Amino acid sequence: MALSPSFQPVLERIAADIAAAPGRGRPADYIPALAEADPRRFGMAVAEPDGTVYGVGDWQQPFSAQSITKVFTLALVLSLEGEALWEHVGREPSGNPFNSLVQLEYEHGIPRNPFINAGALVVTDRLHTLTGDACGTLREFMRAESGCPGLAFDERVAASESASGDRNAALAHFMASYRHITNPVPELLSQYFRQCALEASCADLARAAGFLARHGIRADGSALLTRIEAKRVNAVMLTCGTYDAAGDFAYRVGLPGKSGVGGGIIAVVPGRCSLCVWSPGLDERGNSVAGVAALDRFTTLTGLSVF
Ligand code: DON
Repeated sequence: MALSPSFQPVLERIAADIAAAPGRGRPADYIPALAEADPRRFGMAVAEPDGTVYGVGDWQQPFSAQSITKVFTLALVLSLEGEALWEHVGREPSGNPFNSLVQLEYEHGIPRNPFINAGALVVTDRLHTLTGDACGTLREFMRAESGCPGLAFDERVAASESASGDRNAALAHFMASYRHITNPVPELLSQYFRQCALEASCADLARAAGFLARHGIRADGSALLTRIEAKRVNAVMLTCGTYDAAGDFAYRVGLPGKSGVGGGIIAVVPGRCSLCVWSPGLDERGNSVAGVAALDRFTTLTGLSVF
C-alpha cells in the first residue's frame, strides 16, 4: 500500500483488519482498578513530527498509561544527568516478567533495564532526587508535549495499586538495601504509583512521544535529548520495551515500543512519526493483544519500520 500523505486511510484499514482482536486477552487485574476496563475498546493514533495527529476508534479516550510513563521518566533523567544513570541500572533485556524479583539478588540489586519495574523504580528515584518532585516534573512535561494542559494522575488507580503493591514494595526495599534507591521507600512508591496512574489518550501519548521521532527535539523546538541520546532511548525500547516479549514484538512490529498494563503501547518510527494504540485485553506477558496486532498491521501496510 502506498503511503498516503495522511495516515487516516491506513488507520481505518487497520481497525477493520484487526476488528476481531479487541476483546481478546484480559485486562490487568492485579491492580483492581484496572480490572474494570472493557477489553473491547480499541483506539489508535499517529502523530507526525509537526504534531498533526490522525486517529481511529477510541483514540481520544483517556486510559491508564502505566509503564508507558517509564519512557518519559527515563528521557527526563537522561536529560538531567546523562550517562551517570547507567551506574544504577543496566540496559539488557531481562527475559523475565516485568515484575520479577529473581535476577535482582544475584545481580547485586542492579536492575537489568529501566523498563522492568525494578529499573523504573530506580529511574523514578533518580528523577525525584534530581528534581524534588518526580511526578510534578513528569506531569508538566507530558502536558507540554501532548498539548493537553489537563493531563493528570488518576488518584483512585494510584491508591488501588498502592493497596496491592507488595511486589513493587519488595523490589524497592531490596534495592534500597544496596543503596541503589536513596529516597525513603514509601515516598518513592507513592511517586511511582502516581506516575503509573497518569491518564492520557492515544492522541496525547502519540504526541508526547514525538520527541523520540524528532531525534530528541521537544514540541517547542528545544532539545530534551541529543540525537544520540534519543537513539539510545529508542534502542532500549526496542530491546526491553515489551519485557520478555521484546523479541516477538521486534519480529512482528519492528519498531521501538513500550507497553503498559492499562493496554496502551507507544511506538516510534524515528524521523517519521510516533504512535499509540490502546485496547485493554492483555496477553500473558502484559502486552495488549489488539495493540500488538494493530502495530504489526501498521508496519506491514506502510513499510515504516526500522528494518
Ligand atoms: O508497577 C506495575 O506493576 C504497574 N504500575 C506498571 C506495570 C506495567 O505497566 C507493565 N507493562 N506492561
